Amino acid sequence: MSKIYNVVVLGLGGIGRAHIKGVLNTPSCKLYAICDTSQEAIDLAKKDYPDVPAVKDYKELLADENVDLVIVATPDFVHAEQAVAALQVGKHVLCEKPLAMGMDDVDKIVSAVEAASSKFMIGQVCRYAPGFRKAKELVDEGKIGKLFFVESEYAHNYGRARGVGDWRVNPLRDPMVGGGCHAVDLLRWVAGEMKSVSALSNHFCLTDWPVNDCTISIFQFENGVIGKVMASIGCVRPYTMRSVFYGTEGTIICDNTSDHIQLSSPKTNPEKGNAFVDIPVDINNHNVTAELQDFMDAIVNDKPVLTNVYEGARTVAAATAASLSAREGGKPVVIRKF
Ligand SMILES: NC(=O)c1ccc[n+]([C@@H]2O[C@H](COP(=O)([O-])OP(=O)(O)OC[C@H]3O[C@@H](n4cnc5c(N)ncnc54)[C@H](O)[C@@H]3O)[C@@H](O)[C@H]2O)c1
Repeated sequence: MSKIYNVVVLGLGGIGRAHIKGVLNTPSCKLYAICDTSQEAIDLAKKDYPDVPAVKDYKELLADENVDLVIVATPDFVHAEQAVAALQVGKHVLCEKPLAMGMDDVDKIVSAVEAASSKFMIGQVCRYAPGFRKAKELVDEGKIGKLFFVESEYAHNYGRARGVGDWRVNPLRDPMVGGGCHAVDLLRWVAGEMKSVSALSNHFCLTDWPVNDCTISIFQFENGVIGKVMASIGCVRPYTMRSVFYGTEGTIICDNTSDHIQLSSPKTNPEKGNAFVDIPVDINNHNVTAELQDFMDAIVNDKPVLTNVYEGARTVAAATAASLSAREGGKPVVIRKF
């Protein structure tokens, strides 16, 4: 009989509870225990999962040799401490995005992964959103020719969500890194490595927030492609990541919240010319189940992890470079390589 992996989830907020469902939907995994420092969060989770042991101190779970895999779904500034500690005792780790809020913590996690015998995945879950997967497949098949401009966004309204996670109100948590990392990672995945960035930001919506709430970043890619990311945490609209990929022979418009993407590709649809054709996709923005199942495939079959620690590090490096550029009034910043 094949091994069942004992999984623990640290952090029982919105995304931690999504991960619990991901574990329960993954046949090679057992939800072994859950953890949160807040009794309220534990009580809420226990209503749905009364038989699953819950603890307040994650170190108790790291000391348990039966635990195989740790899902780190705690606030951004906790990722480094928990991921490093779990790797040091040989646990596999699936860590929520962003890898960390800043490069010092990124370096700590990269070093711990390099020293570990276990596997690590960064949860850049947009790579599992059906609309983005379909768009990437079409780009890779050459349906829109050679990319020359790509754009994406993280358009959110934290004003509405305030109280859910007040750790987000932190002068050290730049929205370009905390949320914008999704759009940066998507563009890196689709178009290649980023070389440098110039960004501007302003502060019109969440005026009581300690950081600027909107950043526009222009990225230069190593292959000559130009990219743009808009990260706003105060815009008044439903959450989405509207993205457009422009190629020499066509264009794709896609997002993570619609049931279709749009393709303009005269060579694929000659009868339509350059008109957009709708391609249906599932809506599954937080597809943490597919993410975990991919990670389990890498663990069980000893394969490389696609969204490995270097992917997480490159994304945070690009996002923090954009944040620095914006603070310096748009000065171009070279992005650190990993
Ligand atoms: N992949 C995505 O699309 C996505 C979506 C939302 C959030 N996130 C990321 O997931 C993480 C959690 O976000 P959230 O929205 O679920 O936050 P949240 O505020 O809803 O929940 C965080 C939980 O972690 C708990 N916690 C804090 N410190 C802890 C510690 N040391 N040990 C154990 N528990 C602790 C809090 O009590 C809280 O219950 C963040 O890193 C965030 O950026 C990712």
